[in-house]
This record gives sequence, C-alpha cells and structure tokens, in this order.
Amino acid sequence: MSAGERRRRKPEELRSHRWFGVDDLRSFGHRSRSYQIGFAREDFAGKPVIGIINTWSDINPCHTHFRQRAEEVKRGVWQAGGFPLELPAISLSEPFQKPSTMLYRNLLAMETEEMLRSYPIDGAVLMGGCDKTTPALIMGATSMNIPAIFMPAGPMLRGNWRGNTLGSGSDAWKYWAELRAGNIDQAAWREIEEGIARGPGHCMTMGTASTMGAIAETLGLTLPGASSIPAADSGHARMASQTGRRIVEMVWDDLKPSDILSAASFDNAVALAMAVGGSTNCIIHLVAMAARAGVDLPLSRFDEISRHVPVIANLRPNGKYLMEDFYFAGGIRALLGNLASKLKLDCLTVNGATLGANIEGAKPYNDDVIRPLDNPVAGFGGLVVLHGNLAPNGAVIKPSAADQKLLRHTGPAVVFDDYNDMAARIDDPTLDVTADSVLVLRNSGPQGGPGMPEWGQLPIPKKLLQQGVRDMVRMSDARMSGTSYGTCVLHISPESYIGGPLALVRTGDMIELNVAERRLDLKVSDAELAARRAAWVAPPPRYQRGYGVMFAQHITQAERGCDFDFLHAGAPTPEPEIH
Ligand code: FES
Repeated sequence: MSAGERRRRKPEELRSHRWFGVDDLRSFGHRSRSYQIGFAREDFAGKPVIGIINTWSDINPCHTHFRQRAEEVKRGVWQAGGFPLELPAISLSEPFQKPSTMLYRNLLAMETEEMLRSYPIDGAVLMGGCDKTTPALIMGATSMNIPAIFMPAGPMLRGNWRGNTLGSGSDAWKYWAELRAGNIDQAAWREIEEGIARGPGHCMTMGTASTMGAIAETLGLTLPGASSIPAADSGHARMASQTGRRIVEMVWDDLKPSDILSAASFDNAVALAMAVGGSTNCIIHLVAMAARAGVDLPLSRFDEISRHVPVIANLRPNGKYLMEDFYFAGGIRALLGNLASKLKLDCLTVNGATLGANIEGAKPYNDDVIRPLDNPVAGFGGLVVLHGNLAPNGAVIKPSAADQKLLRHTGPAVVFDDYNDMAARIDDPTLDVTADSVLVLRNSGPQGGPGMPEWGQLPIPKKLLQQGVRDMVRMSDARMSGTSYGTCVLHISPESYIGGPLALVRTGDMIELNVAERRLDLKVSDAELAARRAAWVAPPPRYQRGYGVMFAQHITQAERGCDFDFLHAGAPTPEPEIH
C-alpha cells in the first residue's frame, strides 16, 4: 500500500497515548515528570513522540557531529508537530573498541529495540554510520517494528598528505607497508597520521560504513540521496531536519519497517552491494538484518546476484575515487539510476514513494566515478561466496580488491594459531614463507576472536615486502575492514574455535583457491583429516561471567549473520504493561 493510500492514525491510536493521553495515576506521573523536565502540555499532548536514538560519544570520531545533528533532527520533528526525545545509545566506535565492535553489534540492536519498546515512543530516528551502528540500529528497529527512519552519519572529507589524496583505511595499510619496507620515514608517517581524517563523518572509502549507509538507503530506510552527503556539508544538516519532519508523517501513516523490508528490497540491497564493490562485512549484516525482517537471505543469493551485477562505483578500495567525489558525481541516486535494470523498483521507501520513483531521472554527473553497466570498474562478482572442504558452510572473498592472478592459486599453508602468534612471527626473518605461501589465521571467528575481529587482511611478511611483494593469498575465520584490500578469504565457516576444518590445517598443507569455480579446498585426504579431527581438543570457554557468556552461548556463525539465535524473527514480543 502506498503512503497516499494509508489511513492516517488518530492521536489516541498512538503508543504514547497510553503514557500521556489517559487519565489515571500513572499518566499523572508521566505528565508531571515531563513538566519536571521543562516540557509544557502543549509540547507533547496528542503529538507523536519521536525517539532519536543517538550513538554520539566522545570516543566516536565518526559521530562527532551527532550532538548538533540531533538538534537539527529535533528542529524538524517540532516543525512537523512531533515531540522529540533524544535517547543516547552505545556508540560502537570502530577505531577504539576492542577486540571488535562486532562483539557489541547485537548489544546495540537489543538496546535499540528495548528502548523503543519500554519508552513511550511512536517513531524512531536512528542516528548511525560508523560500521556496526548502522546494522545494529536497523536490526533493533526492525524487531520493534514501529515507524523508523535512518539518518546516516555521512562520509568524512577526503584526506590529504602533501597534496596527495588519502583514503580511510586503504592508505593507512598502503603507507604502513611502505614504512615497513623502508620507503617512507617516520616524519612522513606522522604527517599521514594527521592528514588522513580531516573532519567528522565515517570512513570515506567504500568501506563498511559507506556500504551500509548505501544499503540502508537502497532498502528504503533513508530519505533519497541521504547516505552520500558528506558529514561536513551543510546539506547534511538540512537532511537531518528533513528526516525529523518525515518521521512525524511516518507515524501518522503508520509506515513501519515491515512495510518497507521484503525479499525484494533485500535483493536490491545485495545488488547495490555488488555494484559498489561493497565491504565483505555487509554480507554478515545483510543476513542478520534480513532475518530480523523474516526474510531468508542465504549466502547462495549473494552469489546468484553477484553473477549478473558488475562493479560500477569507481571507489577505493576497488577503484580510484572517494565518497566526496561520489557525492559530487550524483551519489547513490545516480548509481541506482544506472543500476535500475537490475532492481525491483516497486519497493516502498520511508518517504512513501517507491525506490523507482525516488531514482526517476537520476543520472551521474561523472561517468568515470559512477560507470554505466557496459563500462564497469570490474566484471561480475564483486563479492564471491566460496565453498569446499575448508569452508563447508561458506567463506567470502572480494575479487575486485585482490590481485587478479592470485584468484586461482595453490600454495603451502603457513599457519598462525591466533592473532598474537601471527603478530609475534610474521616478520621473523626465519619464517619459512614465500610469495606463493598461503597465510592462515585461525581462532579469529565469532567465538574465537571473540567477535570476529577485522584481522583478515594479514600483513605481508616484512622480508617479502622488501622483495616487492604486495599481495598474497590469506585466509581466516575473521572479517576484514571494508577499507582493506588483497586476496583475503574471510568468514570461513564453521570457525576454527568450534572445530571447523580450519582448526585442522597444518603448516605445509597445500590449499587450493579457485574463485572462478567458487572453491576453497584443503588438499589433504579425508582419512588424514578424520585422524586430525579425532585428536583435536576444544579450547576452554573464553568467558566465565558477564555479557561474553551470553554472547558465546547464542552467537550464530557468519552464514547466519552472527546474530543471537534468540533475536531472529519469531513470535512478537509483548508490549509493556502500563501500570
Ligand atoms: Fe567509523 Fe570507519 S572508523 S566508519
């Protein structure tokens, strides 16, 4: 049903009416405490209450502008006749939180869902952008299923070093390798450190944050064009207030995530992810988000869609440009315009129009940044799913960010038992490794990491860097930053910590990667693997108390999205009793 055909709700039909609109002792308390805050009856009576879930924190550089943006969202909510309430939530700051923000994505999702449920909220503005915040907020709001709109943080401006453009992550890895190879000095390295992140906003390559923002928009959860606007652009502030105005209308129309999210909209999001050469992380997040919406999104669907959608965004780490260039080239609307023949255009979006209507007439202003389908940056298969005896439940690789000649490779394994083992030995001059070796890292998965840290772009051993080697086949049950590149096989499932085949690999074993055939195989006989399995000893639990215990007991593997098993879509959770 389009927004125009939806019945407008009456004030007494709002959730918040049960808190504010009835006349009993508890509503006396709700009203008197609102007066205590300084609100007058005119501020809230009969108005939609909009919860602004703000993931601002002093330690999240990507959300530095969110204090101000929350005020701009509130301005829009007031203008449209709503009652805004800002609700702070855990921030999930990618650069600072250890061992990985992924350990806490589900915690933010739960926090979002339960805040929306337990407070008198009629509609939600979800303020996120730094990697995991986007899927977490959307997962929580999807499960709660009240009207919700996503306000993306927007990318930061281009980095700069001595007149050279710097891209988040990608250039950190690149110049780190040059520093270790002795090609730049410490003074240059410090200048790069100061120039790579010039202002608020999320990473400005097509990393996880940019990918997830673009996905949120393609799913129909942001205003059209919202996800490409740089955080520092004044247009971003205007988008924030427009988002505030729109959510009030969504509440009156009762336009919920369940009206927007469908198998078709997730197919669109997968196609978009392929077209932008998106972060491998988006596979895990999309599977989890879809499950919250009751949509089955198996890894095979990514593979099916990847076979007919080429990479058309010429953005790092696959290509040349950064998100600021992408914005000036027309942004996500222009890209979706070029991709229209691959999309299901009748999906509804938060502005009440279909995706097709929102991208009507959208065209790129720069055909090198946003390519036509017949002149792609890379061919089909931006993200590829692998299977084989080393990954019975799947693994992923991003061929567009890899050395093409390594996409079919057989080589001997050099195994690292965990991250510390790798860090201690990778640069050891006596390490028996060549450019043909396959670097293997284990105990880095959902349980083993824990939280599946972004360790999958294993560093090239220093002695090989000095020989000029810049890529090798690497594999793990970890994830990889969306800003990373290289021939890195990731998300191997089941993970080694719970006894997946990766736990059985030994240094010297031959491993065969064949991306064209979607295969990843350990060239060891079944009998030998069975003997190794019989001798394998499960490691002790990582946690004895606290959140980690719940995490370990309920986290699913990568192919199921690493959500908690009890949070998948199912019977609706009861609304709170109001006493
Ligand atoms: Fe926040 Fe990259 S560090 S998006």
